[in-house]
Amino acid sequence: MAKEKTLEDLFHDTLKDIYYAERKILKTLPKMQRAAQSEDLKKAFEKHREETEGHVERLQQVFEILGKAPRGKTCDAIEGIIAEGEEIIDEFKGTSALDAGLISSAQAVEHYEITRYGTLHRWANELGLKDAAKLLQDTLKEESKTDESLTKLADASANERAKAA
Ligand SMILES: [Fe+2]
Ligand SMILES: [Fe+2]
Repeated sequence: MAKEKTLEDLFHDTLKDIYYAERKILKTLPKMQRAAQSEDLKKAFEKHREETEGHVERLQQVFEILGKAPRGKTCDAIEGIIAEGEEIIDEFKGTSALDAGLISSAQAVEHYEITRYGTLHRWANELGLKDAAKLLQDTLKEESKTDESLTKLADASANERAKAA
């Protein structure tokens, strides 16, 4: 019979998944910043890169609360989302639709993070890990805010520019 596993195992496993994803995102955001055409979008990516450094640190604190070493586990989902984003950069480089495409790729990343942090936050509460729950919620809020600001940038200019060409 398989060894029994619990919510705590799931929590730890998912923590490793998002830890891998955040560090991958940290490496990818500068590429998106360089690719972006508008100054506003460049600034948005820079701001979120700084926040992402904080996300990695918060996750390290959550590992510490669990008494586990911070370790990532390959996250195929983020690999796929980022690979699609790189395709957009290649295929839309130099066109007026590029920024709208970059925003959509970045929002796919944010939504992935939101689903992970939403789950981890609920599980931390279930497990009575109050401090961990607070750390996860702080990041969840920043991911949601980033998602909203990206929508605003798309609505304010990027989508119009993409149509106008
Ligand atoms: Fe993040
Ligand atoms: Fe994010």
